[in-house]
Amino acid sequence: MESNKNSAAIVEPVYRFKHLLGIEGLERSDIEKLLDLSDRYVEANRLADKKHSTLRGRTLINLFFENSTSTSTSFELAGTRLGGAVINMSVGTSSIKKGETLIDTAMTLNAMHPDVLVVRHADSGSVHLLAEKVNCSVINAGDGSHEHPTQALLDALAIRRRINRELDGLKVVICGDIAHSRVARSNILLLGKMGATVRVVGPPTLLPMGLGTFGVEVFHDMESGLKDADIIMMLRLQTERMAGNFVPSIREYYQLYGLDYNKLKFAKPNALIMHPGPMNRGVEIDSELADDIDRSLIREQVEMGVAVRMACLEALVSRQMISAGDH
Ligand code: NCD
Repeated sequence: MESNKNSAAIVEPVYRFKHLLGIEGLERSDIEKLLDLSDRYVEANRLADKKHSTLRGRTLINLFFENSTSTSTSFELAGTRLGGAVINMSVGTSSIKKGETLIDTAMTLNAMHPDVLVVRHADSGSVHLLAEKVNCSVINAGDGSHEHPTQALLDALAIRRRINRELDGLKVVICGDIAHSRVARSNILLLGKMGATVRVVGPPTLLPMGLGTFGVEVFHDMESGLKDADIIMMLRLQTERMAGNFVPSIREYYQLYGLDYNKLKFAKPNALIMHPGPMNRGVEIDSELADDIDRSLIREQVEMGVAVRMACLEALVSRQMISAGDH
């Protein structure tokens, strides 16, 4: 059948879905398209004039039920640089009751016709639930220990730009508190789709059950875990998600699992280190190493964060325009 020339369906969107809720469900080509678009924004963000009109007339609401500094700032900058109206709502966790209140809040905001909702919440699955109830696009900015897709995208972008090639064949080692980390989960999914090999290293108490089903190799000591590593991602001990003590003492944890120049020698000679922030210097990472621009991608990660979020916002909003039926 001949397609209608005026039909919006003939325009291929950068991104196929209404929401960005996780890396799960995305294909390599979806990820690559988002990274390619992000690359353009990295360059644009280095110019003096950073203003675009992609989001002109659109409203972005940042709805954070969990504290955040860098992620919410990054989304705020992304939205304003694209010319959108950005509203930030931080809802103190202590004052809300789960479930009903989350949906009530969502419905109230929905009635105000936002175009994109960026949501962070302490409960895994809550952002998916919310996305089912609203008309606009939803970006998951972290749900419990489940997913944090824009973090995994920005990590991939930081790696890709530094090594100047795709991620195929890279050995990436994620270290520390894997059990409570949505960053680890999204990264494990993304890196696998992009052809990298993923290992995790941590004490048994901080590694979740069933890691094998994710196709990762599991180690309990840094010496064997870091062998041949190209990239080392360090994670924070996420005590806010721990009921009780998961490590005997911080000092012992640093001795066994804290990344310093000595342990870095176990990895490949030019291995790069990463951390999603916020960093606990002297707990999971040596302070000097974290700031070593030859070895550390941490500063680039923050820079890439804004570009990736601009790309995601553009992708969702242009998809809304193409498939106007959804919105
Ligand atoms: C991460 C998060 O919130 O999951 N941080 C972030 O997005 N900047 C990691 C963490 O909190 O340790």
